[in-house]
Amino acid sequence: MSDLLQAFVHTLRYEAEDIVGIELRPLPGEAFPPFDAGSHIDLHLSNGMLRSYSLLNPPGETRKYVIAVLKDRASRGGSRCVHEQLRIGMRLKISAPRNNFKLHEDAGHSVLLAGGIGVTPILCMARRLRKLGRSFELIYCARSRQSAAFIDDIDTLGAPVHWHFDAERGGPPDLKALLARPSPADASNTHYYACGPAVMLDGFEAACAALGHAHAHIERFSAVEVAAASDARQHYTVELKRSGKLITVTTETSLLAALRAAKVEPPTSCEEGICGSCETRVLEGLPDHRDSVLSAAERAAGKVMMVCVSGCRSERLVLDL
Ligand code: FES
Repeated sequence: MSDLLQAFVHTLRYEAEDIVGIELRPLPGEAFPPFDAGSHIDLHLSNGMLRSYSLLNPPGETRKYVIAVLKDRASRGGSRCVHEQLRIGMRLKISAPRNNFKLHEDAGHSVLLAGGIGVTPILCMARRLRKLGRSFELIYCARSRQSAAFIDDIDTLGAPVHWHFDAERGGPPDLKALLARPSPADASNTHYYACGPAVMLDGFEAACAALGHAHAHIERFSAVEVAAASDARQHYTVELKRSGKLITVTTETSLLAALRAAKVEPPTSCEEGICGSCETRVLEGLPDHRDSVLSAAERAAGKVMMVCVSGCRSERLVLDL
């Protein structure tokens, strides 16, 4: 487990239907580590669950972290616990910020697509781009105006925004049409970002691929079920370079379990392949990536892997652990 920070709940705010905004502060006299746009933190909840939420306040603030949580009707306990148990003044443990959704601040133009509560990292990115004076636009999609958080905050940024409320337009947006609109900058230097429900992210990825948008970035809330590769090994050995150990992974155990059994503890948090905390350098061998963090290019490069969920496609793997 990575180092945890102590925080307390300073403010709880209604932000939209079923969405609560939470301002966390460090203990008196302390400061949080700085963060950059697209970062998230993990909350260690009173029911023992751990949930990741994107930071939405302006990057760099160290006196507070602000997140927003949607009460998920299909909640497995995480968002329900946040909505029903968190109280002002309550202390809780959080992780330091991590970023799997980095903003390319030098892009000629950025297109930011938010779906529902996926607006949180998008708002943070928009604030950063506004501060830097960079060219950007937003596409904000939600079921209805009442369910859309931070409309006023987005309005005050003064950036071009395409609003899409399903209830007013009779259905979900045509993402391909929205993303096909010409960018004011050199198209090859335009970056596209999306955060929202899985179905929207799948549509975004398909649209970007069809339109030839090379710089497409997404952040998922929940793990995608990734099947093992057809050439994934059932049995392989892993050399741990720094600790000088050799372990074996079989069908009886996962890589993470084998590491722990050898008393090697990589930092972990979600253990579902979505938070990025267990990212480990691969020195040799072919990982079988089963996470929801790495991009297609990062997977192909094979230089890092999420050891909590991934496997191996070669007889031997050498890790920087
Ligand atoms: S622990 Fe979260 S990606 Fe591995």
